[in-house]
Amino acid sequence: MEPVRVGICGLGTVGAGTFNVLMRNAVDIERRAGRPLVIEQVAARRDNPQCDLTGIPVTADVFDVVRNPRIDVVVELIGGYETARELVLEAIHNGKHVVTANKALIAVHGNEIFRAAADKGVIVAFEAAVAGGIPVIKSLREGLGANRIQWVAGIINGTGNYILTHMRDQGRSFDDMLSEAQALGYAEADPTFDVEGIDAAHKLTILASIAYGVPLQFERAYTEGISRITFDDVAQADSLGYIIKHLGISRRTEEGVELRVHPALIPKERLLANVHGVKNAIEVMGDAVGPTLYYGAGAGAEPTASAVVADLLDVARDMATHHDYRTPYLAFSGIVEGDNSLPILPMDNIVTAYYMRLQAVDRPGVLARVATILAEQGVSIEALIQKEATEGELVPIIITTHLTREANMNEAMRQLEALADIAGPVTRIRIENLDENV
Ligand code: HSE
Repeated sequence: MEPVRVGICGLGTVGAGTFNVLMRNAVDIERRAGRPLVIEQVAARRDNPQCDLTGIPVTADVFDVVRNPRIDVVVELIGGYETARELVLEAIHNGKHVVTANKALIAVHGNEIFRAAADKGVIVAFEAAVAGGIPVIKSLREGLGANRIQWVAGIINGTGNYILTHMRDQGRSFDDMLSEAQALGYAEADPTFDVEGIDAAHKLTILASIAYGVPLQFERAYTEGISRITFDDVAQADSLGYIIKHLGISRRTEEGVELRVHPALIPKERLLANVHGVKNAIEVMGDAVGPTLYYGAGAGAEPTASAVVADLLDVARDMATHHDYRTPYLAFSGIVEGDNSLPILPMDNIVTAYYMRLQAVDRPGVLARVATILAEQGVSIEALIQKEATEGELVPIIITTHLTREANMNEAMRQLEALADIAGPVTRIRIENLDENV
């Protein structure tokens, strides 16, 4: 059979990993695809010493690749938004299939890209965009195709999990751990994307579309980062039987879809609580299958390349199939932008449990005032612990709540912070019990 001719755009961490995996495992890849996958051209602004490019045509201009008439599939690994968007749209316009690891591109411009690709009848594959090497897109889109998906929750940023894990285990500083994650090639070009939850929100946006058949709506995702988590909260959570993780959560409710990334306390006995370092894991709850879990390396050169090459194999197998008979890009056919039948819920409408930490003056009546505010907002207390005084007259009070609507919790926080007996801001972290009963 004719080979599939591949053009690789970008030879950074993932580009180099993809090049090396394609070369090293060429024999097995050919047997799996039923035809060879040949690297026809590479676009790189500079040499990568990790790759032996002998005999491979190299260009400094990524647009040479999408204009090369010999190329069947463009692999977009340059990252970022605008140039990547132009590159992918031009590749599609030129009738080429596209494989990308770019979650920002898919989350923000995916609706436009899939429309253009459908018009041209080409494949756009993006397994590597979510959770590195874990085949969660394929599992959700195809393996769980029988299910009505109820919720998806995951640790989907390797850098953030790497930082949280080692701060907790080794007592090392946030900055120290971030530098290490950057040196290992895990972090985004702008690492605030990792620690502020933007990267995770890109990935969650994609997962939610595939889970529920809704258009990509990154702009409606709620994001809250991990930079304000203190060691104190980590220790308090631990004593209450929880571990703090940075979670992406999407839940289908009667009113719409929740789409949120924030730190959360999760019970220590949950499998997700035991996902450490750069590893990612995504739990998906389907009505037929129940809970399922997908675990593995969420970042890094060859783990991400594993997903890119798997997409290339799919392209090799499916390129001869008529577009109408291929798996839809986002799992469901007929996803219509602007269709608000299952809207993304505003954060005020979400319902979850909460952990709160307050610094209160230790005198009669303070707890009663705190309890009154919570009662007036319909917040039901699950546990309340007053710790020993640490700073002068102030005592830390830890409260956990039953399920509460976020708007009520925000109002309670506002009133608590206005009390003369409460010092400084109230810390609030959501508790996610990840109930596995269907
Ligand atoms: N910066 C991302 C992470 C890379 O740390 O998970 C993979 O998307």
